[in-house]
Amino acid sequence: MSPPVAAPTFFPAPAAQRTAPVGTVERPLPVIIDSDPGLDDARAIALAVARPEIDLLAVTSVGGNTDVRHCTENALRLLALFGRPDIPVAEGADDALLGGRIRAPEIHGAGGIGTTVLAPSPAAARAEAAVDLLAATLRDHPEPVVLCPIGPLTNIALLLRLHPSLAGRIAHICLMGGSIGDGNTTAAAEFNIYVDPEAARIVFESGIPITMMGLDVTHQAVLFEPAVERLRALPTRSGAVGAELAAYALAREGQWYGTPRMSVHDAVAVAHLAVADLVAVADYNVRVETGSGPARGKTVCDGLARRIERQGRSPNAQVGIAIDRDRFEDVLVEAFARLP
Ligand code: RIB
Ligand code: CA
Repeated sequence: MSPPVAAPTFFPAPAAQRTAPVGTVERPLPVIIDSDPGLDDARAIALAVARPEIDLLAVTSVGGNTDVRHCTENALRLLALFGRPDIPVAEGADDALLGGRIRAPEIHGAGGIGTTVLAPSPAAARAEAAVDLLAATLRDHPEPVVLCPIGPLTNIALLLRLHPSLAGRIAHICLMGGSIGDGNTTAAAEFNIYVDPEAARIVFESGIPITMMGLDVTHQAVLFEPAVERLRALPTRSGAVGAELAAYALAREGQWYGTPRMSVHDAVAVAHLAVADLVAVADYNVRVETGSGPARGKTVCDGLARRIERQGRSPNAQVGIAIDRDRFEDVLVEAFARLP
């Protein structure tokens, strides 16, 4: 019998009918990704470009895994690699709302994409700031747009504070971040929330429909060495780069968790927008701890309806609770197979 391991002692909230929209080939979902590329961000962007169910309108960058100037350049070069240098990129906040700069070079490398060197993009970042591109796109697009933040939520919080009237043009926020159980950056907090808890609190209190893909589901979305081989076997530059980024992540996470594996955090948020039945979600009331104690950045997730009600609160997010890992790996590899 294998040695016992600790299991999170939280209430097992039942799966609920998803509220996030899902794109179709006939009616692709308009999406903006806000990102800190980032090894797993790269896979998320690849998936968004490759899936016909998603119409990726723009990518905005935010400081997180690495400094925002690297995130911007990585986003430009990744979009060019994936054959879409036409998708606009605008640079956002480098530091958190209240200042402070937390980075993750130990996982993503100093420049954010390991040791991979990507060819420069023929396109440049837009002159306007991320919040301005977000606002203009929300204002001008013929239908409400889905925001898919996969880094710290600083840009999204600034958007909501500077352009409160545009909240109605946001169809849904499908984010990677938070956790029902333990954190990763601290025992309490997941990285994207921990970098800017005040921004996360603004987003979760906004009243906009939210799907939170936290560590509980992204740590089920794990790839191992065979997935790297599947990417490496693709006859494309995107496949080769995908394999290179994955191999780097596998080695780095392996040092942290003891076995060569990698959680493909960000791509779960994108996959949920393209594949209707890949991720199971449950209704939660999510609050963000913004104090200065050891729980700073924790997403306090309550899925027990009667307790939420008793405290005069209501569910404000759907939280990812389960994913079909094997199918998710196929979705990722097939996406890279569609790219140049
Ligand atoms: O905790 C995982 C998240 O932090 C992912 O978005 C990863 O890219 C890092 O930003
Ligand atoms: Ca990220």
